[in-house]
This record gives sequence, C-alpha cells and structure tokens, in this order.
Amino acid sequence: MPAIEKPPAFQRDKPLFSSGTGDGQAIVIFVLGGPGAGKGTQCANLVRDYGFKHLSAGDLLREEQDRPGSQYGDMIKTYIKDGQIVPMEVTIQLLENAMTSTIKENGNRKFLIDGFPRKMDQALAFEEKVVPSKFTLFFDCPEETMRERLLNRGKTSGRADDNEESIKKRFRVFVEQSKPVVDHFASKGRVLAVDAKASPSEVYKAVQTGFSERGIDPEKKAEESV
Ligand code: C5P
Ligand code: MG
Repeated sequence: MPAIEKPPAFQRDKPLFSSGTGDGQAIVIFVLGGPGAGKGTQCANLVRDYGFKHLSAGDLLREEQDRPGSQYGDMIKTYIKDGQIVPMEVTIQLLENAMTSTIKENGNRKFLIDGFPRKMDQALAFEEKVVPSKFTLFFDCPEETMRERLLNRGKTSGRADDNEESIKKRFRVFVEQSKPVVDHFASKGRVLAVDAKASPSEVYKAVQTGFSERGIDPEKKAEESV
C-alpha cells in the first residue's frame, strides 16, 4: 500500500459538523448490511420520501478509481477486486468532500451514508473528524439470500466484485470487520436493525416504522401540503 498523506479531515481535532440541520451542522445515518442486503434499494426509497442525500462509500470509491489522474485509482481497484477495505483516510475524505459539496449546491444537510463504516477505525475516525452519526440502520440478511441477489445483479451490474470468488471474500470481510461495527453501536443502543430477507416493500415498511419511532418523518410532498 502506498503511503497515504494525511488529508484535511485528519488534520482537525474536532468534528467538522455537529449533529443537526442548521449552519455548521449535518445529520448522518449510517447504513450497513452485508453485500446484497438491499442497502442501495432501501436508500433510494428514503431519498424519495424523506429528502435525504444518498452517499454510497462504494460508489464514491468506484468514481475516484475511474477519475483520470487520481493518485488512489490503482490502489482502490486492487482493494475492491479483492473485497478488502480501502484505507479509511481515502474513504472519509471522499465522503466529507461529497457532503460539503452537497450542502453548497442545494443546502441539503441530511445524509444516508451507505456501506460505511465498514471497519471500526472508520467508525471512530468519522465521528471524531466529520460528524457524530444519529444512528445506524442495519439490514440483517442471511448469506444465502445475499449470494442469490448478488449473482443475479452480477448478470447486469458490470461490477468487478459481483462474482463467486469476490462475493466469498466480501462475506468474510463483512463478518470479520464490519459486523463488529454494528455490534459496537448496538451495544450503545444506536442501531435500528431490520430483517432484510423479506421483499423490498416489506423491508421498507419496517424501516419507516423504525424511523418514525426515532422521530424522523417523511417530507410532505408539495401537492399534499396544500
Ligand atoms: O458497498 P459496496 O458493495 O459498493 O462496496 C464495494 C467495495 O468497496 C467493498 O467491497 C470494498 O472493497 C470497498 N469499500 C471500502 N470501504 C467502504 C465501502 C466500500 O473499502 N466503507
Ligand atoms: Mg451498494
């Protein structure tokens, strides 16, 4: 691994934002679950109904990997193909940059951060340098179901890691590195866990119930508010 320079987020000794929707604030909900648990699908629902901005750590890494001139491109490619977790400095800075530019572009300060934190060091560093999360939404799904979904997606996704061999490695990394993050937040009562084996619409119902219990309600659409 090439040496990673300390990006700006790591030169700070307090978070960039506090939790909220005012100036200098941001709301972050972490979205976790094994590969193929349905994180992206459910995030799309939440964006539509609740007005969140969806930031997928995996998508941001793939974008950076393909950006001409990126100093991290080759490194990211190797990690993703192998199902390994990219060094957190890169991922956290990409997330922070995406948050800052979203706020600048349209003032949206509500974020679903999907596929992150995948490892304990990322969880601690993000909350210390960027913003403490509100809670973690966890999609709990058996491996057999996830494998079926990923192989199906692999027929059309064009992703280098939707194949048997990469899937196996991604499952192992999830169990060994990412599940402990969920367990850590759960031990502090900071996880909304949802059974993700059911159909997308049933899973979404459970998500909505959990959000409502935490005081997060859908945005009123313009036509409903008149
Ligand atoms: O979330 P998604 O399945 O799109 O992630 C694809 C890959 O991106 C992961 O298997 C991993 O190699 C990399 N990744 C990472 N750190 C994250 C999220 C994704 O290294 N927080
Ligand atoms: Mg995804």
